[in-house]
Amino acid sequence: MTISHPESLLPVPSGCFQVSEAAPAFKRVDTRYAMPLGLYPVSFSLVIPTYNESKNIEALISVLSSLLDAAIPGNYELIVVDDDSPDHTWEVAQALIPEYPQLKVMRRQQEQGLSTAVIRGWQAANGHVLGVIDGDLQHPPKVLLQLLTAIEQGADLAVASRHIQGGGVSSWSFTRRVLSRGAQLLGIVILPQVVSRVSDPMSGYFLVRRSAIAGRRLNPIGYKILIEILGRGDIGSIAEVGYVFQERQEGESKVTWKQYLDYLQHLLRLRFSSGRMRGIRQGIDFPWSRFIRFGVVGLSGVFVDMAVLYLLHDSSTLGWGLTRSKIIAAEAAIINNFFWNDAWTFSDVSNQQRGWLKRLKRLLKFNIICLIGLLLNVLILNFLFNALKVHYLLANIMAIAVVTFWNFWINLKLSWRVTESDN
Ligand code: GDD
Ligand code: MN
Repeated sequence: MTISHPESLLPVPSGCFQVSEAAPAFKRVDTRYAMPLGLYPVSFSLVIPTYNESKNIEALISVLSSLLDAAIPGNYELIVVDDDSPDHTWEVAQALIPEYPQLKVMRRQQEQGLSTAVIRGWQAANGHVLGVIDGDLQHPPKVLLQLLTAIEQGADLAVASRHIQGGGVSSWSFTRRVLSRGAQLLGIVILPQVVSRVSDPMSGYFLVRRSAIAGRRLNPIGYKILIEILGRGDIGSIAEVGYVFQERQEGESKVTWKQYLDYLQHLLRLRFSSGRMRGIRQGIDFPWSRFIRFGVVGLSGVFVDMAVLYLLHDSSTLGWGLTRSKIIAAEAAIINNFFWNDAWTFSDVSNQQRGWLKRLKRLLKFNIICLIGLLLNVLILNFLFNALKVHYLLANIMAIAVVTFWNFWINLKLSWRVTESDN
C-alpha cells in the first residue's frame, strides 16, 4: 500500500491532450469501492495556470478557498499547474496545501505553454465542471459564483467576458485595446463560426461541463484555450458573465509578440481542420432581414454621398477641391448610415444599450469598420482590375459586394454586438 503525502505533487498526465469522461480518481481506486458511474468525487475543478506567480498565488488561493468553502464546501478542488517557474511558484503553492486541503499542485518540467497547462490540469481533475482562472488576480474571483450558477442552470460553457454589460478593462492603453480588438477581428474573419459565438473569445476565465469536451482530441497552441474549446468541444448553450479585467499588482504579464503569432497559427490550424471540428453544431442562420435593411440604408448613403459631393464640389455651388469634397461626402454618408442602422437595422440591440456615450462608441466603431471597408474596396478593385483584368465597372460592383458584406458582418459582431450566448 502506498501512502500519499498530502503535500506531494500531482503526476503530470502524458500522451495526447484529451480529457476523459470519467474522473481519474475512479481509475486508481479498487473497483469494489468505485463509486457508481456518473458520480464525481468533487463537482468542480478549477485550474490555475502559473508562471512566475509566487507573489500572487497565496492571496489567490486564500480568496478562492473562502469563496468556494462558503458556496460548495468540500465539493471542489483547486489545481495549480506550474511550468517549473524560476521563482518556484510550484513550491510556494505546495507549502499551502496543509492549510488548504482542496489544493493540488502540478509541476511540469517537460512541457510548457498556457493552453496545454490548462488541459493537463483538467486531465488530472475529478470534477464534472472544469474551469480556468489566471493566477495573477486579474480575474476577480467573485465572478466564479455567477459562472457556476450559469452551468448549474444548464449552460455547457460559462465565459467571463469583458465585452458585455458589467464588463471592461481597468486602464488599458489605447494600443492594447486596439491589439485586443484587432485579434478578435482577425478571429471573426478567419474563424467566424467559432469566434463569433462569444463576445470575448480571448477570455481565459471560463467554466465548461466536462461532458462537453470529454473524449475530444484537443490541440491548442499558445494562449487562447477558449477558442480550442469552442472549436472542438460539443458546446450547446453558452452563458456569459461580465467582469472587469483587473490591473496586475505583482509579477508581470508573459504576453509577447510570440503570443500574437501563436494565436494566428492557432486560428489557421482550427480553420483548416474544420472538417474535423465538431464544435460547430449548425451553420449560422444568416440574418437576412437585417442584411436587407443594412443594404437599404447603404443605398440611402449613396444618395447622401452624391448630394454632398455635388453641393461642395460643383462649380455652380461651392466649387471645393474634389478630394476634400469627397472625404466630407463619404463621412456624411457614414454618419447618415449609422443613424439609420442604429435606429432601424439594429434597433433591438441599440435599445438595450441606451445613452449617448454608448451610441457615440457605436458610431466610432462603425466609422472605423467602414473606413477599413473603404480601404478594402480600393484594394479589391485594384486587384481585380490590374491583376485579373476584369472590366473596371464589373470589378467595382464585385468590390462593393464584398465590402458590403464585410461592413455588415463586422458591424453586426462588433458595433451592435449580437452574440449567440444565452445571457
Ligand atoms: N503554466 C503556465 N505556463 N502558465 C502560464 C504560462 C505558461 O507558459 N504563461 C502564462 N501563464 C499564466 C500566468 O502566470 C497567468 O496566471 C496566466 O497564465 C495569464 O498570463 P498573463 O501573462 O498574466 O496574461 P494576460 O494578463 O495578458 O491575460 C490575457 O490572457 C489571459 C490568458 O488567455 C487576457 O486575455 C486574459 O483574459 C486571459 O485570461
Ligand atoms: Mn495577467
